[in-house]
Amino acid sequence: MVDLLLHVGGTAGRVRRDTNESANFGLYKHKDCEIGRAGGRVKSCEKRARRKMTKQWQPLHANTLTTRNYLETFIEKQKPQMKIETNSVTLVDYRDAEHAGRLSSWLRSPHVVQWWGETSLDEATSTKSNGGSRIILIDKMLAGYVHWHVLDRAELDEAGLNDIPEGGIDLDILIGEAAFLQKGVGAQALRLTVDFLRHKYRPRFFSMCTQIENARAIACYRKVGFVIVRTFKENGRAYYFLRGF
Ligand SMILES: CC(C)(COP(=O)(O)OP(=O)(O)OC[C@H]1O[C@@H](n2cnc3c(N)ncnc32)[C@H](O)[C@@H]1OP(=O)(O)O)[C@@H](O)C(=O)NCCC(=O)NCCS
Repeated sequence: MVDLLLHVGGTAGRVRRDTNESANFGLYKHKDCEIGRAGGRVKSCEKRARRKMTKQWQPLHANTLTTRNYLETFIEKQKPQMKIETNSVTLVDYRDAEHAGRLSSWLRSPHVVQWWGETSLDEATSTKSNGGSRIILIDKMLAGYVHWHVLDRAELDEAGLNDIPEGGIDLDILIGEAAFLQKGVGAQALRLTVDFLRHKYRPRFFSMCTQIENARAIACYRKVGFVIVRTFKENGRAYYFLRGF
């Protein structure tokens, strides 16, 4: 397992892949150069760009639309072997002014609607029941969203979860940018969230609920240490209740 470093306008987007070779290259955009494979066009682009920075060679800057597209294109081409390096995943406070637009568009994305259903921005960011939210970043790029709230007796009873004690913190998560699905980002974001919440609130336990058909979510949650406790039904759908820590 070798690290590849994507330097995006000075910030490094660490990407891991299974390979025998390693490369350390920057992400530059040539007026007629499309991003290719590691060790291929990108690498030679960078060598030349480093030698002389001409008008034709421009480093890509983090968070610009162009950079996002290039990085996503690059990652898409490397599927499925590449994983995002865990230390490039961080969380920041969700702020309406900065993040509402992006979160709204994520909530309308088909891969999110499939499992979150039609969820409004207000529902997703509700601070009732001691809820809170974080935005998941990969370096400086907005990648996803995690939300939590404290389980109360009424909610648990309504779902038929009479045997589950109240006071646990229930988590919801989505990776909004489809290009970053299944690259270890969800698992790392959950680890960070649980660490932070455990330290701050010392809850009785953490939980996650997911439809039993959501194999990717289940695999992700189990990887982090959650275990399936039981099934329950809501709106005619079968869900797993997973408990952790
Ligand atoms: C669920 C979600 C947050 C997980 O985040 P992620 O970054 O995609 O997950 P990870 O990459 O950390 O882990 C996914 C794991 O599922 C595995 N997986 C993917 N599809 C699978 C399938 N059909 N069956 C079994 N495992 C599967 C992957 O191989 C990976 O495991 P690995 O790292 O051991 O290879 C993300 O996929 C997502 O946002 N999905 C859309 C919204 C959603 O479903 N939210 C949760 C609602 S409860």
